[in-house]
Amino acid sequence: MIDSRRCDLISKATMPENLYRNINFWDPKLYLEKATPQFQLAALALKKYKFKGNEQILDIGCGPGNITAKLAQKVPQGKVIGIDPAKNMIAFAKDTYSKVKNVSFEDKNVLNFSYSQKFDLITSFSALHWVINQEAALARIYNHLAKHGMLMVVMIPQRKVEPMHDALISLERSEVWQSCFEKFIPPRYLAVSQESYQELLNKIGFQIDYFEAKETLVPFESIDDMAKWFESWSSHRLAVPAQLRRGFFYALSEEYLFLTQQRGTFDYNYATWEFVARISPHHRLFHYLSNKIRA
Ligand SMILES: C[S@@+](CC[C@H](N)C(=O)[O-])C[C@H]1O[C@@H](n2cnc3c(N)ncnc32)[C@H](O)[C@@H]1O
Repeated sequence: MIDSRRCDLISKATMPENLYRNINFWDPKLYLEKATPQFQLAALALKKYKFKGNEQILDIGCGPGNITAKLAQKVPQGKVIGIDPAKNMIAFAKDTYSKVKNVSFEDKNVLNFSYSQKFDLITSFSALHWVINQEAALARIYNHLAKHGMLMVVMIPQRKVEPMHDALISLERSEVWQSCFEKFIPPRYLAVSQESYQELLNKIGFQIDYFEAKETLVPFESIDDMAKWFESWSSHRLAVPAQLRRGFFYALSEEYLFLTQQRGTFDYNYATWEFVARISPHHRLFHYLSNKIRA
């Protein structure tokens, strides 16, 4: 049994400012070890892309860099840059993949990155849902896409993860855990419908090749496995002292299983959007004409 005041008694390592800005709370090793469901979703999306081998690729929100390094293998004559504002993720990626010649990693944010070059392929896996100002992010991506380039994204539609959020809220308010969350500023999440998101893509000047709202059942072998997976990506980790984290994520898993009415199974219903978009030919023409008129 966990003492309800233990969170008060143990010093906390909260990073509210970083949490608010959705950066720098990651543990790259833990993420790399446990985030197989995310890696599988990225691999599935990438199967649909036919690599020529010489592409210039930008991977946004590259995290520990494993997917970015795999992309580099696919383009031996090309180059891949992974960007991420989480300093520990970038440091880990640089360190781990320092021997891969055609990959580099940079501490940059999707909201303000800038390169003089354009990219044939821009990817972003399990990252864009952490960004609130989607318009700014997508406009910046658009400006860095080559004329015939492609944007490939896997992200979470926040509205669809409600049982998980309900479980988190229930724990944050519970007698046992509430003292951990008194000063906790929860991260801000994206909340936008699929229709509005597609409208935004079109407004910016993208043409959508396909846009799929997916539901993937992720079966875990045990409640411990599920708890470790939650811990590997949840920013709530930082509000809970290290000694209590296992208990917290176990309790979170119990709550999730209760809310999703599971008995004897440990399944997570993983909702994602997967889409591919390019610069719309109408916009290309529009830019071409407006440049001509200005010239
Ligand atoms: C769950 S990890 C995904 C890592 C990897 N792409 C994957 O599929 O496993 C999410 C990453 O998005 C990054 N991220 C959050 N906000 C971002 C932003 N504004 N710009 C770029 N990346 C961001 C985080 O730092 C984190 O490393």
